Formats: sequence, structure tokens, C-alpha cells
Amino acid sequence: MYSEKVMDHFQNPRNVGEIEDASGVGTVGNAKCGDIMRMYLDIDENQVIRDCKFKTFGCGAAVATSSMATELVKGKTVEEALTITNKAVMEALDGLPPVKVHCSLLAEEAIHAALWDYAEKNKITIKGLKKPKNDISEEEEEEEY
Ligand code: FES
Repeated sequence: MYSEKVMDHFQNPRNVGEIEDASGVGTVGNAKCGDIMRMYLDIDENQVIRDCKFKTFGCGAAVATSSMATELVKGKTVEEALTITNKAVMEALDGLPPVKVHCSLLAEEAIHAALWDYAEKNKITIKGLKKPKNDISEEEEEEEY
């Protein structure tokens, strides 16, 4: 049911963890399954993503897609990172079963939420970036878990 790449990224996820003093942090949740994904970005003065880490409290497909997403955004500019859609992440993983497509959307939204946080902190606008609708970052600041 799952490709070898999905299994590999699920069993050996890359870039798990946190970045202290990250340039941007985004947390998104899927209300239906209750899964949560948090993405940390370290962005340099040229708006290039130097490092990316994640924490996912969710299903195996969510872990695999967040792992692959972190690999894809590293070294990209913030604008290039915006073009990494959930489809691109799924393709890089050689596909996901249809019932698991929504899990890959969390990865795309987590990147966007972290970029949104970075833009807000630096008072800049990133062309084409909208605040993801499942961004739950603010709720969490009040309610640590
Ligand atoms: Fe919730 Fe996969 S089932 S993210």
C-alpha cells in the first residue's frame, strides 16, 4: 500500500526536532483526524532556508510527508519554498494512497504557516503567501501542551 520511500521516511524520518530561535515556526492541525504538525525554519539574510526541522503528532503518512517536505525546502529561497505543494511532496515519495492525500496537505500548510510567521516577524510580504486556514499557531501560544 505504501511506497518504499514512504516507508523509509516513516521509519527513518529526516530532520526531526526543533530549531531554537527559529526564523519562523508554524503549527497546523487537521480537525478531522486530530493530527498536528509543527515546522521550524532557519532563514538567512538572503531569504534562503538554511535549515528546517519538524515535529509531527500524527499518522505515518504525515510523518513521511513532513520528513520529505523538510528535505525539499532546505536550500530554497522563501519564494521557491512556496511552490512546494503537497503534490510535489507526494511525487517525491512515489505517491500516497488516496485516503492519505490529506496528510500531505498538512506538510504544505505547515511550511506556509512557518513562512507566514517569518514574514510577520520581519514585517515583510512574501508574494503569493496566504495564511493557511489550518494554522493553529496562535491557539498554541496560549495553551502549551
Ligand atoms: Fe491525520 Fe494522516 S490521518 S494526518
